[in-house]
Amino acid sequence: MAQSEGWSLIVHGGAKPWDPAEEQANRDGVDQAVRAGAAVLAAGGSALDAVETAIRTLEDLPIFNAGRGSVPNQAGGIEMCAGLMDGRDLSAGAVGAIREVRNPIGVARLLMAEKEVLLVGEGATRFAKDKGVPLASQQELLAEAEKHAATEGQHDTVGAVALDQAGNLAAGTSTGGINGQKVGRIGDSPLPGGGLYADNHIGAVCFSGDGETITRLALAGRIMASLEDGEDVEKAIAKSVAKLPGTGGAEADGGGIGIRKDGQIGWAHNSPMFAVGMLTSRMSGPAVYLHKSEEAEGGARR
Ligand code: GLY
Repeated sequence: MAQSEGWSLIVHGGAKPWDPAEEQANRDGVDQAVRAGAAVLAAGGSALDAVETAIRTLEDLPIFNAGRGSVPNQAGGIEMCAGLMDGRDLSAGAVGAIREVRNPIGVARLLMAEKEVLLVGEGATRFAKDKGVPLASQQELLAEAEKHAATEGQHDTVGAVALDQAGNLAAGTSTGGINGQKVGRIGDSPLPGGGLYADNHIGAVCFSGDGETITRLALAGRIMASLEDGEDVEKAIAKSVAKLPGTGGAEADGGGIGIRKDGQIGWAHNSPMFAVGMLTSRMSGPAVYLHKSEEAEGGARR
């Protein structure tokens, strides 16, 4: 855990099974994303821009189940979810089961300018098209995807949480959902209070893992209540993910990242792997971990 003044950014590449063949790509990917988002914050940019930038970077890397690396659904197609929330005014934009776009987070960002918070399916794709987002067919997306070794039923998400120099917080998520999921299925990722939340007066958080159970437990909302009561962000996240198996069954696991309004950063997971990258204005370079135990060991500071 780190305390920060100035700016802070934490990103993750998903709560998922451990695959030794994918360790380096996960480390490199979160490193790349945290550097891209941190460059925005260091230049005085907003937390919202930093989160979007970091998530776009993760979506473009095929190792992660989001954007380009999204896993196929039951019908062999790709449907993605993403959400963004701005702690300045609680504005939020989200898309669910969106098709034919390469960067769902960009569509979520465009929706923040509208009244609607969440668009799904055909409506989400139509909105993207109306806003001039270039579309790609399912065949093109599937052909472009360099699939990583996702197992059937695997769920994971990418996410980012930032605090900017002006003290503003933002959170974002993006996912291809569950490998083999039902057509039209939406998990926690686009749901404020479920997979993400940001409020400048409290903090910001996002989750990855069993989307149905995270939604049923309203984990992001719970974290906000805990932080408002003065709880340590890391303890709050650890307690939240510990509730997953009890509610969703033994296979239900996850991970979360968060920043409290005072800059305290925390992360916790009960999944085998949770790739995390962290960088603040007080650090000389990113810290990258694949598991919480690496942090205690001094981790992979770059
Ligand atoms: N946590 C991502 C999902 O369940 O869709």
